[in-house]
Amino acid sequence: MSRLVYILNGPNLNLLGLRQPAIYGNETLADVERDCLALAADLGLTVRFHQSNREYELIDWIHQARGEAGGIAINPAAFTHTSVAILDALNAFDGPVIEVHISNVHKREPFRHHSFVSGRADGVIAGCGTQGYLLALRRLDRLIGGG
Ligand code: DQA
Repeated sequence: MSRLVYILNGPNLNLLGLRQPAIYGNETLADVERDCLALAADLGLTVRFHQSNREYELIDWIHQARGEAGGIAINPAAFTHTSVAILDALNAFDGPVIEVHISNVHKREPFRHHSFVSGRADGVIAGCGTQGYLLALRRLDRLIGGG
């Protein structure tokens, strides 16, 4: 399988480190990207790291990953709880998918307890802060194998 991995981030995650730091922490998305690239280099993975506030852009990146990437780590943010379209796009991707949430969505409001994406995900990481992205990369590394 390809050693290329997509890391996709949904709406408002561009404000990471600025919005609700008590929930999401002080690290910015640029910090997360830097740490993911460093770990990926250690693991011998190539990473495409993207964020968008637009559902269609996330879907287009998932389509791009088809036939190209070995796996996807995705934090769909609020689209987690609303988007059948992102679920359908992920269902059209053959490789492993890890769903990441910085906060523990199960400890929060009931509307965050349901995820459309979990029905497709091979693993779900929630409540581990931004470290969740690094855990997802390690899991994808294991699932993708030697390439
Ligand atoms: C989130 C949790 C979602 O419920 C929320 O809408 C987000 C971020 C998380 O990373 O904890 O924007 O996905």
